[in-house]
Amino acid sequence: MRGGAQCHLVEAADGNCYVLKPRNNPQHRRVLVNEWLSSAFLRYLRVPVPETAILDVVPELTAEYPDFSIHLGKSRVPVESGWHFGSRFPGDPGRVAVFDFLPDTILRDVSNLTDFLGVLVFDKWVANADGRQAIFFRANIRVPAADEPPLPARPGFAALFIDHGFAFGGPQWVFQDAPLAGISPARLVYHGVRGWTDLEPWLEWVKHFPDEIVDQALRQIPDSWLDGEHDQLNALCEKLMTRRKRVASLIEDCRGERVNLFPSWR
Ligand SMILES: Nc1ncnc2c1ncn2[C@@H]1O[C@H](COP(=O)(O)OP(=O)(O)OP(=O)(O)O)[C@@H](O)[C@H]1O
Ligand SMILES: [Mg+2]
Repeated sequence: MRGGAQCHLVEAADGNCYVLKPRNNPQHRRVLVNEWLSSAFLRYLRVPVPETAILDVVPELTAEYPDFSIHLGKSRVPVESGWHFGSRFPGDPGRVAVFDFLPDTILRDVSNLTDFLGVLVFDKWVANADGRQAIFFRANIRVPAADEPPLPARPGFAALFIDHGFAFGGPQWVFQDAPLAGISPARLVYHGVRGWTDLEPWLEWVKHFPDEIVDQALRQIPDSWLDGEHDQLNALCEKLMTRRKRVASLIEDCRGERVNLFPSWR
């Protein structure tokens, strides 16, 4: 797959296909921890992410497929055996086309475009140091308005949010806040924001984010991803919880004169 972590598309024993982010990727093993925690937190915030899994690579696999490897300069090392991060491909890769980018004319009709506002609240909270990434694919969607009866399914594009390797400041595990960090390059997704109510319920949900969700996600992380860094990770999560109430002010910084992400905000 494209990208700095040199992911591979694999079919797992459960019959699903996953984009596997290797533990021995060139970015850092901590990006797997960031992926796992972020996916769990986003699910609680009802922001759609792919299903995730901890994938076991058996030694025979790397022996059989020499291309299942990582390029480091001129050398090549196999994806090591053991546990890796998996982000499930939404369907059969032979049938479902997945796009990293859509032109604005198609993007504006994506069925869950407002989820970009939920993920913005998340990205500011966790100080995502990377641009916001999503994947888009065609799905049968039913989005009845609150006062309407259920609508029949209609085809359209849906977005899932991916690549949380640089949440928590990336491999540094340092919260460095910058107005344009964690922002989508597709600025159209922010054009409809008219005020704080458009960023609800996510702001409120983050402000009261439960400890149990963090603890549960921490318990699932394989020891091999941490390499003894349990204390550092616990300290990171404590800082994260003290940041919960700061998210609105971090979003306020996106409304400065130099950067105005929300041209419709009154
Ligand atoms: N669940 C998924 N389903 C389909 N495609 C995916 C999925 N997850 C990732 N991809 C594809 O794989 C690519 C690489 O994934 P990702 O962005 O997570 O890796 P990365 O190497 O960390 O990227 P970057 O260099 O942006 O940090 C994505 O750009 C996307 O095209
Ligand atoms: Mg990426």
